Amino acid sequence: MSPYAHIIGWGMAVPEQVLTNDDLAKRMETSDEWIQSRTGIRERRIAESDQTTASLAYGAACEALEMARLKPTELDLIIVSTSSPEFIFPATACLVQDRLGARKAGAFDLLAACTGFIFALNMGTQAIRSGSIKNALIIGAETLSRLVDWSDRSTSILFGDGAGAFVLQASEERGGVISSVMRSDGSGGDLLCLPGGGSHAPASLETVAAGKHYIQMNGREVFRFATRVMTQATQEAIGAADLKMDDIQLVIPHQANLRIIEAALRGLSIPMDRCMVNIDRYGNTSTASIPIATYEAVKQGRLKAGDKVVFVGFGAGLTWGAAVAIWSGLEPGARKPLPVGLRFYARLRSFIRRIMRRIDALIWGRHNPYT
Ligand code: UT7
Repeated sequence: MSPYAHIIGWGMAVPEQVLTNDDLAKRMETSDEWIQSRTGIRERRIAESDQTTASLAYGAACEALEMARLKPTELDLIIVSTSSPEFIFPATACLVQDRLGARKAGAFDLLAACTGFIFALNMGTQAIRSGSIKNALIIGAETLSRLVDWSDRSTSILFGDGAGAFVLQASEERGGVISSVMRSDGSGGDLLCLPGGGSHAPASLETVAAGKHYIQMNGREVFRFATRVMTQATQEAIGAADLKMDDIQLVIPHQANLRIIEAALRGLSIPMDRCMVNIDRYGNTSTASIPIATYEAVKQGRLKAGDKVVFVGFGAGLTWGAAVAIWSGLEPGARKPLPVGLRFYARLRSFIRRIMRRIDALIWGRHNPYT
């Protein structure tokens, strides 16, 4: 029998710096009243100059591993879902892998925009269900504040920075992620995009002058698409898990806009008290929003062992998807901080490997096997 992928640890990391709607109203023509009534957002977190997608991802990962009482060296796979990676390559996941000292783990980035965490969760689950790995770390992390045009009031009010992570572990016991739905429609790619800096429009003075390195969005169209697919994906995932809507204790949707969430829940005939919402405090953190909302739901006692939960999201691509999980909860026993020694070991290991590579290059530089 295929093992199940249980969620045995979860963590989050957000910057301390808070940007309120009133702060934005001082910079552009908008108001707290407009933003709250159209989106449900009151404030968002913005990364400090020394914080990046990888550093937030690392923070969330450490907390998730501590909760799971798992050493980074026990990880087989790390997936970082992000649309704001440190670089186009190397993958942000590899930077996190190195910083954790997760020497056995394969690591890669996944780009499915705000739906990315659901896609990554499904990929991690399938790797476990196939029997090829035991432990996976799934991270959603963003610093979209670096990709936003701060003079564009239709996008800059929406986004915030943050990261969330799950640790998945194989178990013979039924539970964890029991169904997933992944969908895409590239014909709507232009509705939400960042057109510059890729192979289509490589970075140049012209692309920068034209603002092509900023997020561009057709808000109304995305809104319409979102309300439709959130309902549809939730229904499909619940059906695939052989469950009914009434079996679900909590819906954790992508936090893009409170009005989208309310419309989707209306379509599902699920009351809002069975839905987790924290968009008021973090804005839209894209792929990080579902794990951050999950973390807070558990902390508030809204998600308990044995509960059935649906994660549902949509985003650029266009992409959308949902997953149903039986919440595993924590094993009895205290959370175990990652030993300081382990963090030191990871840094030392990384340093030694860099030195060894240099020595290698010095030796082999004189004897190039290709000449
Ligand atoms: O993770 C996926 C990310 N994207 C989304 O989820 C976006 C989905 N879309 C939305 O959330 C909404 O479409 C927005 C919040 C972006 C916009 O809300 P809306 O109710 O669709 O407003 P709108 O674009 O129809 O604009 C209405 C008016 C316009 O003025 P006029 O043309 O009617 O005079 C805008 O210029 O509101 C104006 N407006 C603003 N006013 C004050 C647009 N942004 C602002 C603003 N403050 N920040």
